[in-house]
Amino acid sequence: MQNLRNILSILADGHFHSGEALAERLNVSRTAVWKQIRRLSQQYNIPVQAVQGRGYRLPTPIELLEADKVVAGLARESREQLGKLQVEWSLDSTNQWLMEARDVPCGTVVVAEHQRRGRGRRGREWVSPLGTNLYFSLLWCFQGPPANLSGLSLAVAVSVVRALSTLGVNGLGLKWPNDILWQDKKLCGILLELQGEAGGPCRVVCGVGLNVYMPDTAAAAIDQPWTDLRHVLQRPVSRQQLLIALLDELLPAMPRYEQDGLQPFLDDWRRWDVVAGKPVQLLLPQRTVRGRAQGIDTQGNLLIEHNGTRERYCSGEISLRTETEQHHATAD
Ligand code: BTN
Repeated sequence: MQNLRNILSILADGHFHSGEALAERLNVSRTAVWKQIRRLSQQYNIPVQAVQGRGYRLPTPIELLEADKVVAGLARESREQLGKLQVEWSLDSTNQWLMEARDVPCGTVVVAEHQRRGRGRRGREWVSPLGTNLYFSLLWCFQGPPANLSGLSLAVAVSVVRALSTLGVNGLGLKWPNDILWQDKKLCGILLELQGEAGGPCRVVCGVGLNVYMPDTAAAAIDQPWTDLRHVLQRPVSRQQLLIALLDELLPAMPRYEQDGLQPFLDDWRRWDVVAGKPVQLLLPQRTVRGRAQGIDTQGNLLIEHNGTRERYCSGEISLRTETEQHHATAD
């Protein structure tokens, strides 16, 4: 893996590098260089252009993440909360890695350049091609019971939108419980996984997947409307700067949530909530609820009004209803 990372970090600039120069810099044979290049394109879908007499280049330059630069870029308040930050080349899933890790301090952040089995909500796959988007997870240890964590995933979503807003990303919306959308397309997904014993402390792994530049080859596997930051901003964007901005919001958000709950995040949630007031359907394991979304309560539960009564829901998958579905539901 190290060799592969090294060769990619040389090619990352998008310039031509001859096989000979690469072999010399990496201290390997030219055949070994060629094999690594083939692995990059076959195994990781990174297109490498080979031109006789000039060498190899990436048609699209990429920026690899460097842990020390990310840590150095963090605000002091965030660094104080950080256990450690680790950048990995390829993991099955950063969430899974932290869920299984022992002896890692709370506040650990694990970032992967590539996920082999990225986990989405509801058993979906999170498409995670190499070196183009952001995939990371943060481990946090809470003292209270898991019941107090019902609003945490909303607080995490608000923190992500705050971070993106500071970078000039406008027009973002939040869809309960934690989808981050741009023009109704998914830009970022959040997956919280909990470990804890009744009455004891609770470990929470907060996973964030942000589409920065989704290559077409990978996009074919996505089964929902999606977008990426390059499309939203119409310019390339530094993954390293993004990661710093995200961690600068997320790390301080954890102790804040622990102390004050969802309260410090509620106003922003309401500001960015894109479903409040709209006709929705909520998929529950045994049934589907149809009604009008009425925002959230102070614990982060979704409020839906149906036939004049207002119910609260703590889980489920919502979707907006079309005109036809609305008429159908009214007729029901
Ligand atoms: C969703 O389906 O909306 C949640 C997607 C969460 C994806 C992120 S990527 C980093 C972390 N590791 C995973 O396996 N999943 C989360």
